[in-house]
Amino acid sequence: MSVPKPQMEEGFSFLSLKVVLLLVLLVQFTVADSHHKHAGDGVQPLSKIQIHRAVYELHENASVKAYPVLLGTKGEDSQWVTVEVASPKPSEDDWLAVFSPANFNSSTCPSTDDRQETPNICSAPIKYRFANDSNADYVKTGEASLKFQLINQRADFSFALFSGGLFSPKLLAVSNAVSFVNLNAPLYPRLAQGKYWDEMTVTWTSGYNIIEAVPFVEWGLKGEAQIQSPAGTLTFHRESMCAPPARTVGWRDPGFFHTSFLKNLWPNSLYTYKLGHRLSNGSNIWSKSYHFKSSPYPGQDSLQRVVIFGDMGKAERDGSNEYNAYQPGSLNTTDQLIKDLDKIDIVFHIGDIAYANGYISQWDQFTSQVEPIASVVPYMIASGNHERDVPGTGSFYDGNDSGGECGVLAETMFYVPAENRAKFWYSTDYGMFHFCIADSEHDWREGSEQYKFIEKCLASADRQKQPWLIFVAHRVLGYTSSSWRDGSFGEPMGRESLQKLWQKYKVDIAFFGHVHNYERTCPIYQNQCVNTEKSHYSGTVNGTIHVVVGGGGSHLTDSGPVQTTWSLFRDSDFGFVKLTAFNHSSLLLEYKKSSDGKVYDSFTISRDYRDVLACVHDGCEPTTLAT
Ligand SMILES: [Fe+2]
Repeated sequence: MSVPKPQMEEGFSFLSLKVVLLLVLLVQFTVADSHHKHAGDGVQPLSKIQIHRAVYELHENASVKAYPVLLGTKGEDSQWVTVEVASPKPSEDDWLAVFSPANFNSSTCPSTDDRQETPNICSAPIKYRFANDSNADYVKTGEASLKFQLINQRADFSFALFSGGLFSPKLLAVSNAVSFVNLNAPLYPRLAQGKYWDEMTVTWTSGYNIIEAVPFVEWGLKGEAQIQSPAGTLTFHRESMCAPPARTVGWRDPGFFHTSFLKNLWPNSLYTYKLGHRLSNGSNIWSKSYHFKSSPYPGQDSLQRVVIFGDMGKAERDGSNEYNAYQPGSLNTTDQLIKDLDKIDIVFHIGDIAYANGYISQWDQFTSQVEPIASVVPYMIASGNHERDVPGTGSFYDGNDSGGECGVLAETMFYVPAENRAKFWYSTDYGMFHFCIADSEHDWREGSEQYKFIEKCLASADRQKQPWLIFVAHRVLGYTSSSWRDGSFGEPMGRESLQKLWQKYKVDIAFFGHVHNYERTCPIYQNQCVNTEKSHYSGTVNGTIHVVVGGGGSHLTDSGPVQTTWSLFRDSDFGFVKLTAFNHSSLLLEYKKSSDGKVYDSFTISRDYRDVLACVHDGCEPTTLAT
């Protein structure tokens, strides 16, 4: 669309001038506000950049220099880079973008772009900082030195100085390229439970296509002979994305994803593993060495510790992307879990994983952030709106919360033992636990394909061996006091559909994310607490406890003004839940804050097998009077 030139004629009134002035002020305020805000605003920082509007104003006296030029010379997959900036006309709106690949001019624009004129730049940077960040004198001196933490993302990097803020970017200077030694290196392993209890899957990212190198995992019991298992190779293309920005400015080559299935594991045993790629010349490229503890046998009586949270996202330790405005608690949660890792057996991140929102580069950064956790314990994910939702693509909700990803990133980058990873529901066993993971972004209502799965999953728990039956979904299909978006009580339609299943199969706890806080209810059925106990539950299982644990890291949600009898504890802070099964009759739930790792809420469940079998309202198997 061509824009008519403004004409300064007599008709240009004083009123018009006032409107223009107001608009200018508004734009300036918006830019300044986004620049300095740190409270958490829930807007993907990369989406604030109007990269398509960028113009070239290269200035001979402006310069950007980055060093060291060669990264990862000692095998590192992450390194700090210093960037020296000089500008002849510095302004507080000047910002520094990190591009990867280093060449970001219009020659890389896809021909399928439906814009009439090719923009100068058609891909978003992978991150950015304002030049005066930690350089208070920049506006006076025109000189700044910034440190960026780069991770190996399979392509080289360059740093570009822009003036004009994020709204009207003007490119002043571009740095030299910097690059990791081996751009294809196998990186960011994440473990997940396989389809069977004695199977661990390892998924990782590399730059090696299957025709360049054969991927495999070398693994075995710690200290014993190691064997090699093959791995598959998957990728996807721009055309696999469903909408902008994933199809447009957010697109970035994702590399290749490899998954290996490590089978016939001994229960509760320590294994070591490393990732390999065999090149055509016969030599091998190796990752670092990692280790994990295999899962317990289903029903096994041993200490089992499970961490559950939703909505964590990512943040940049170097202060990029407005540091923690987007997911302010993300690094705290990550660090707290790393600190406690030897007391955690398995992690569930129940949707809203990376909040990349169609900016593909952010998934690498997320997998790098969680690598210390996901490479050691199974990192099981559920699908949320930020992974799946795009209008007109079969998502149950109609927003574009995934920024056009339509589930492809989450489904390819992480393994889950689903029959069909595009339908993100699955069951998994962990010792005395049986988990049924639902996909709130696909229809769960009675009669739906997913409803049948949920019933089958709940029914398949042998409660004598697996007493702890856990239901998980991203959106609150049960109970929340939050008035945010979903009304006072979450998603009542979900509750209407599913509560009969929770009751019939005597689900102990239902976990949800999406609402960014912590809340737990009494054991409840049809909006009524089934007992008055607050923290030590015992005896017959006649209601399900609902726990919202969506405070993993994204900006917080108020708990809402509604007071109910069923809400027993609420906290609008960052945190996660830890479940500890001591044995078949004793379970502990603890809510820990991400800021200090301390317990702020807890309850216990004590019971015997007969308490699960006991007949309760709407939860009895049919009987006859015959004896
Ligand atoms: Fe969500």
